[in-house]
Amino acid sequence: MKLESLHELFVEELQDLYSAENQILEALPKMIEKAQSPDLRRGFQSHLEQTRGHVRRLDQIFDQLGKDVDRNGKTCKGMKGIIKDGEDVVKAKGEPEVRDAGMIAGAQRVEHYEIAGYGTVRTYAEQLGHRDWAQLLEQTLQEEKDTDLKLSQLAGHINIEARAA
Ligand SMILES: [Fe+2]
Repeated sequence: MKLESLHELFVEELQDLYSAENQILEALPKMIEKAQSPDLRRGFQSHLEQTRGHVRRLDQIFDQLGKDVDRNGKTCKGMKGIIKDGEDVVKAKGEPEVRDAGMIAGAQRVEHYEIAGYGTVRTYAEQLGHRDWAQLLEQTLQEEKDTDLKLSQLAGHINIEARAA
C-alpha cells in the first residue's frame, strides 16, 4: 500500500467500510434466524434494513469518486475476524438465551468497529472540503450509535434471562 494524500487514505478507509458493511449484510440473516428473543430478532432485522441504506450511502460517494476507484477493492480483515468470532457463537449449541447474550456481545463489537470507521471518514470528508459526503457519513454514524445503544438496552433483560437459564 502506498499513501500519498489524505484523499487516498479517505478512499482506503471508505473501501474498508464498504467491505465491512457487505460482510455484515451476509452475517445478519444467520443471526436473525438464530435469535431466540423476538425483540432481538426484530432488532437484527431492522439493522439489516439500515445496513442496506449504509451501503447505498457509500455507493453515492463512490459514484462521485468515479471509475478510477474500485469500491470492491479491499477486504476488511478486521470485520472478517469479528464476524468469524460471532459465527462461533451463532453456531453454538446449548441455551438459546445464553447464545442471544453472546450474539449481542458480537453485534456490539461490530458496531464499535463501524463507529470508529465512520467517525474517521466523516472527519476526513470535512477536512477535504466535502460537506455533502461528511453529512451522509454522519447519518450512518448516528445510526450505528443508536444501534449500539439499543443493543445495550436489549442486553439489559436478555443477559438476565441468560443468567436464569
Ligand atoms: Fe452499518
